[in-house]
Amino acid sequence: MSDLLDYYRKRAAEYDRIYEKPERQEDLAHLGGWIREWVRGRHVLELACGTGWWTRVMAETAASIVATDANDEVLAIARTREYAGPVAIRRGDAFAPGALAGDHDTVVAAFWMSHLPLRGIESFLDGVEDAVAPGGRVILLDNRYVEGSSTPIARRDEDGNTYQRRRLADGEEFEVLKNFFGKRSLQARLAAPHRRLDVREWPHFWAVSYELLFRTEVPPA
Ligand SMILES: C[S@@+](CC[C@H](N)C(=O)[O-])C[C@H]1O[C@@H](n2cnc3c(N)ncnc32)[C@H](O)[C@@H]1O
Repeated sequence: MSDLLDYYRKRAAEYDRIYEKPERQEDLAHLGGWIREWVRGRHVLELACGTGWWTRVMAETAASIVATDANDEVLAIARTREYAGPVAIRRGDAFAPGALAGDHDTVVAAFWMSHLPLRGIESFLDGVEDAVAPGGRVILLDNRYVEGSSTPIARRDEDGNTYQRRRLADGEEFEVLKNFFGKRSLQARLAAPHRRLDVREWPHFWAVSYELLFRTEVPPA
């Protein structure tokens, strides 16, 4: 099991407290409104869905959602929620979205990209884009770094990845890779001819929605 999976397995029962921070409520409302509109009427494959917090928000407007995570502990919590629309909850690896692909026209990964090494973002998106047909949509959302609200950055590696030291309620500590982006860095990082990007930011969060225009096919050798 990866360190990240182990951390989120142990954090499962206390995870949703992150959504109770008072200073984030206004931005969460904006972000919720934004994502409800982007998934309206869409068939969504959600990667790394965790406890289903965003699944519940999206289920208000999505046509259907298959919500996946690699972690049984968070999925057990996601299964206890009530959803306003059709939601199926399944175990699945965000690094192999092709294995999860069905009749989806939209892939969503919330608070996941920040945990990818900077050098791994494009290969993650390659896998996602292979699992969505042209005309499909990819939606990513995550934190911005806010002094006094975010867990401080403990160190930065030679590639520019940043790490936090996080402590669970029982005192166990983990070092967690967590990269922070803003609108301009996302535009620069994600720009590509096959992506029509819409990038938003609020003080505490950022969100990206892009339509997949086409993909360059590599002809068989
Ligand atoms: C920051 S949480 C995000 C949860 C949820 N999307 C949210 O925004 O509340 C990251 C999630 O990634 C999951 N995870 C870690 N490695 C994974 C993998 N390889 N495939 C799928 N999920 C994974 C963890 O179990 C955890 O639920």
